[in-house]
Amino acid sequence: LKHLLTAEALSDQEVMGLIKRAQAFKHGELPALEKQQYFVSNLFFENSTRTHKSFEVAEKKMGIDVIDFDAKTSSVSKGESLYDTVLTMSAIGAHACVIRHWEEDYYNELIESKTITTSIINGGDGSGNHPTQCLLDLLTIYEEFGHFDNLKIAICGDLTHSRVANSNMKMLKRLGATLYFCGPEEWYNKKYEAYGTFKPIDEVIGEVDVMMMLRVQHERHDDDSQFSKENYHTEFGLTETRAENMKPGAIIMHPAPVNRDVELADSLVECYQSRITQQMANGVFMRMAILEAILHGKA
Ligand code: CP
Repeated sequence: LKHLLTAEALSDQEVMGLIKRAQAFKHGELPALEKQQYFVSNLFFENSTRTHKSFEVAEKKMGIDVIDFDAKTSSVSKGESLYDTVLTMSAIGAHACVIRHWEEDYYNELIESKTITTSIINGGDGSGNHPTQCLLDLLTIYEEFGHFDNLKIAICGDLTHSRVANSNMKMLKRLGATLYFCGPEEWYNKKYEAYGTFKPIDEVIGEVDVMMMLRVQHERHDDDSQFSKENYHTEFGLTETRAENMKPGAIIMHPAPVNRDVELADSLVECYQSRITQQMANGVFMRMAILEAILHGKA
């Protein structure tokens, strides 16, 4: 694998290969990398805890040398562009750069460059794609059910601004799941009809295998006064009362960070149906699988 930019660019076979490798790492298997020094830089231009730090743990578990980078103390503060930053990382020997950036499709000019040779792993591009989150979500669902075919999954909330929703709806539909979308109509777009059906949360709560809640992305809203915290929770959130109507064996997911008592009740974040901490833990193993696939053959 040269780059990982979107999940949908992966074949089903590649997705299942990454899931199986992540599961193997979780069970203690070691990465199959050539015995040489690998350098990876994590370039985060938007804040992150899970993606940034689980990549760092994955890299350290694999014996990869992490090139420290902080946008605030780098030459980005002198006006250096993303292109020139990645050009520099490539020139000094980074085999791969994990990049999170606010600009959708930021990676196009990087992969078109003849000079930049480093691999790009997309850690999230604006409201575009979040392929590594999508893959760890697929791993979490696969661990639970052992398949994707005919699973019923509701993706609920801030669909418009969610790169997680964008990546997940495409992959889950392709892998055979039936999707429902819930949440405010303002955050629903007709283009999602290709992937699932828009329904009120109370119509799907008793039917679905997975309630996938999305963070309300305040930082991407022009006008943030549409819903109070309480109104959003009551009308569109996973309340304790709604959770009582989930079918036996159904699970709750959320990419996190969670706005507690907004997308879901505080008490549900760590409840027995929740797989939210499992998603976080799986992030390390899936990112190990991705790094192995990217770095393999670069020796
Ligand atoms: N889920 C996710 O991408 O979290 P971070 O923004 O903390 O990386």
